[in-house]
Amino acid sequence: MSEQNTTEQKKLIFSGIQPTGTFTLGNYIGAIRNWKPLQEDYRCIYCVVDEHAITVKIDPAKLRQKTLEAYAQLLACGIDLDKSLLFIQSHVPTHAQLSWVLNCSTQFGELSRMTQFKDKSQRHPDDINAGLFDYPVLMAADILVYNADLVPVGADQMQHLELARTIARRFNGRYGDTFTVPEGYVAPVGAKVMSLQEPTKKMSKSDENPNAVILILDDKDTIIRKCKRAVTDSETEVAFREGKDGINNLLTIYSAVTGKSIEDAVKEFAGQGYGTFKMAVGEAIADHLAPVREEYAKLIADKAYLKECYTRCGAEALRYSQRVLNKVYKKIGFIPSEIR
Ligand code: AMP
Ligand code: TRP
Repeated sequence: MSEQNTTEQKKLIFSGIQPTGTFTLGNYIGAIRNWKPLQEDYRCIYCVVDEHAITVKIDPAKLRQKTLEAYAQLLACGIDLDKSLLFIQSHVPTHAQLSWVLNCSTQFGELSRMTQFKDKSQRHPDDINAGLFDYPVLMAADILVYNADLVPVGADQMQHLELARTIARRFNGRYGDTFTVPEGYVAPVGAKVMSLQEPTKKMSKSDENPNAVILILDDKDTIIRKCKRAVTDSETEVAFREGKDGINNLLTIYSAVTGKSIEDAVKEFAGQGYGTFKMAVGEAIADHLAPVREEYAKLIADKAYLKECYTRCGAEALRYSQRVLNKVYKKIGFIPSEIR
């Protein structure tokens, strides 16, 4: 973070994203893209949460590769390291350290009620590990260890954020004012992107049908092909209304990548068939993502530069979060350690 940013009393944003493969157009429009403009008005701390990723089985070589790729993709999407910090969660041990302390201010019953835990334990019945159960506490620690004011998250993470707020309040009540109680931040332009094949379902990287999902690193031909195959309806009019889930989704995407309103987009395609419309949507997505793809190719080829970036940012995040952790340790009665 620049000197100017750290000295001004700008609010602090923290957000994290799991390194679960190439990001989708849904991750991009719903989350990552909003991280860039926030850098102008807030101090931003962004993190690739590799410790969260091991709550489900993942091959070590794959995790290593995906973590680095996620890091490079976030930089390619416009995270500016003169303004913000972007680092890897496991490099900054204070998150896991605080998470242990917060465990002791979190109730079993609260964690049992988390819908993500219930979903994931149903999907992975052979591996309902304690980390999966405790996932929201590590997420709370990610946020509270920086005393973040605002946390940009998708709707699916709101329950976890609410728990982080409860934990912060409870700790403050028991030990005296320590943590900032963070607010959720829903980006004004955030939109939910649906599957291209089943437009009533969220576009998700775990979808088995590759045609349902656009990845931010897909090339132009692939993007256009996927758009052409997108499921629509048996009508012919490009309009935004109930019952036209496929077209509504394409209009939402078109509006998000061009900055045009849905209304204007509808006018633009009045009287034109679905074929022309789908082609235009594909081209608009590809044009919008082209700079991200180009920048990513440069970054991922320069491992030394990436290492320099995550090391520098991780070191700064560690320094910052250690101050908060020390304060917490003191409040709960741990003897100060001189071990360095
Ligand atoms: P996930 O891929 O579920 O780990 O989500 C990472 C971030 O991307 C979260 O903030 C989600 O809310 C957001 N996200 C994921 N898929 C979509 C989607 N299809 N539309 C909008 N936002 C999404
Ligand atoms: N659980 C979040 C997700 O799956 C990722 C995450 C981890 C996060 N720690 C965070 C998001 C802290 C915001 C703040 O999307």
